[in-house]
Amino acid sequence: MACRHFLDLSDAGPAALRAMLADAHIRKAARRDWPKGKPDADAPLAGHVLAMIFEKNSTRTRVSFDMAMRQLGGTALIMDAGTTQLGRGESLADTARVLSRMVDAIMIRTDDHAKIEELARHSTVPVINGLTDRSHPCQIVADLLTIEEQGKSLAGLELAWLGDGNNVLHSVLEAAGLLGFNVRVAVPQGYEPESAFVEMARAAGSKVTLTRDAAEAAGGADIVVTDTWVSMGQDHAPNKLAAMAPFQVDARLMALAKPDASFLHCLPAHVGEEVTEEVFESDQSVVFDEAENRIHAQKSVLLWSLGLL
Ligand code: CP
Ligand code: NVA
Repeated sequence: MACRHFLDLSDAGPAALRAMLADAHIRKAARRDWPKGKPDADAPLAGHVLAMIFEKNSTRTRVSFDMAMRQLGGTALIMDAGTTQLGRGESLADTARVLSRMVDAIMIRTDDHAKIEELARHSTVPVINGLTDRSHPCQIVADLLTIEEQGKSLAGLELAWLGDGNNVLHSVLEAAGLLGFNVRVAVPQGYEPESAFVEMARAAGSKVTLTRDAAEAAGGADIVVTDTWVSMGQDHAPNKLAAMAPFQVDARLMALAKPDASFLHCLPAHVGEEVTEEVFESDQSVVFDEAENRIHAQKSVLLWSLGLL
């Protein structure tokens, strides 16, 4: 079997993505009320080790992958890039070749997407994208799981994205193309997503609307999503925050969406900026289900990468 890197959702494709979601639902249900660190009954990754490299901060990705490995019967180790030789200039190629001899899979969070491609090129064990400046596929597996848990089917779903056209939106667009839902993107001028992701979704048959009107995007939507206006590694440019202000998700905007619409946010949130406290704390907000689902989603990603799904 070729090494299954998970750099973006397309590496898995629609059938594997559906299989990941199905397995995540089953595993989540099977361990309801169990202690969180207790391994799943089948412990399919017993004896396996995941190395996690962080070149940016993380709470959810770090803890969810660690817990995912424990629940699958394996273990994880964390490498803060600053305290490794990678942080002193050892090449990604050599790092990949060394880690391939020592661990069974590598998860990395970094800035430039080219770095993760370079790591994958030289790794003989699966490399998983824990976020780059370009995409955040692991997050979106959790988001899809959360949407399905709300009783909504992905095919034909109308998802509204408000705010910044960032890495998380790129993976939303990729998922839309793979699983057949539509995306209304409302972002200020100059903050559009990369056109490659828009074109990818459209080529696969998804309807992608780009608008400067938040109300147009939210109108009749099944899901309303936003993210921080300033991603890690970006400057807090005052003109960016001003441009984003009309795209804040507030109660008025949520009232335009379907009555049973859910609000998603990958977190961390800046309540009072991209979303009001009223919406963030409302019954429509499923952000903490979404955060928990990182564990269940990451288990599926690991199982797929290691050839067990
Ligand atoms: N959503 C997400 O990836 O969170 P962390 O930055 O805490 O990992
Ligand atoms: N767009 C955000 C996501 C954080 C999980 C960032 O890249 O900082």
